[in-house]
Amino acid sequence: MADAPQRTPKRVVSGMRPTGRLHLGHYHGAVKNWIEISRKAECFFFSADWHALTTDYKDPSGIREAQREMFTDWIAAGLDPERCTFFVQSQVKQHAELFLLLGMVAPIGWLERVPTFKEQQQELGEKELNNYGFLGYPVLQTADIALYGADAVPVGQDQVSHLELARELVRRFNHLYGRVLVEPHPYLTEVPKILGLDGRKMSKSYGNAVELGEDPEQARKRIMVAVTDPARKRRHDPGHPEICPIYHLHRAYSSPERVEMVDRECRSAGIGCVDCKKLLLESLLPALEKHRAARARLNPERVEELVQLGTAKARAVAEETMVKVRAAMQLS
Ligand code: TRP
Ligand code: SF4
Repeated sequence: MADAPQRTPKRVVSGMRPTGRLHLGHYHGAVKNWIEISRKAECFFFSADWHALTTDYKDPSGIREAQREMFTDWIAAGLDPERCTFFVQSQVKQHAELFLLLGMVAPIGWLERVPTFKEQQQELGEKELNNYGFLGYPVLQTADIALYGADAVPVGQDQVSHLELARELVRRFNHLYGRVLVEPHPYLTEVPKILGLDGRKMSKSYGNAVELGEDPEQARKRIMVAVTDPARKRRHDPGHPEICPIYHLHRAYSSPERVEMVDRECRSAGIGCVDCKKLLLESLLPALEKHRAARARLNPERVEELVQLGTAKARAVAEETMVKVRAAMQLS
């Protein structure tokens, strides 16, 4: 967990790999916290398109479009362009330069020991992740963060090991070259767990995700056939809401009274899954429709322009850090 009570950060940076339209997992796991934090801190949020390439290097064809969709969804979901700087990682070449320099001081053993390295290699077995870029994933992530001197990085629990490596690496760098970089801290908030419609982790690649702006009719159909607690084979079998994706969605979208009712009536077999799903649709579908309308109102050219402006601003901040880094490493 987080070290020490979380202070209000001054400057924040976070990134997301561009995988297309956002789903509810992205929203509740990340973007919602970003919106919250952007009310109090200076924020940089970027598309980690180079990180996407570490696993999808064989077919980069979807990345640009996915990135457009992602930025549009960020803004439609409520990230305010007045308060946040949006940018594209690959368009700020300082990320590559700092990645290279951090690579000089990054022990290979540290990288091999990052738990996500082996896990992802196994999970994405068909993708052949024996590439150097994939091993270096957390070094690039360290560069992403250190360039902005951010004191906090809002990330999900799954990124904590990367943040730990980033902190160690920054320490090692500072030890060798003087106090140049800021040690980053994860900014963790409680996130409600939301399972995908098949009961696995919500992920676009599993086809079990509900998009934030999904067509309500389509969402209705998919929810009505979603898995629930398998223990509820018959109407009078009691269930365990905590393992049911429908209950997770209730927690995120329904009123506390309704959540409490569903919890109770599921356990006592007082309510059936079909009725439970219908109740969920009453709260979920209007939220999806609201996002869809917000997306539709956004002008794609305006979004593009905001990202261009943000990228220029990010570049200037990143360059300031690089001036110090180059001097510290006798490169200027
Ligand atoms: N690794 C992050 C993810 O998979 C994305 C990311 C890249 C990131 N660079 C970052 C997150 C820097 C926070 C800070 O979601
Ligand atoms: Fe899930 Fe609701 Fe069925 Fe319980 S009653 S298993 S919470 S759908």
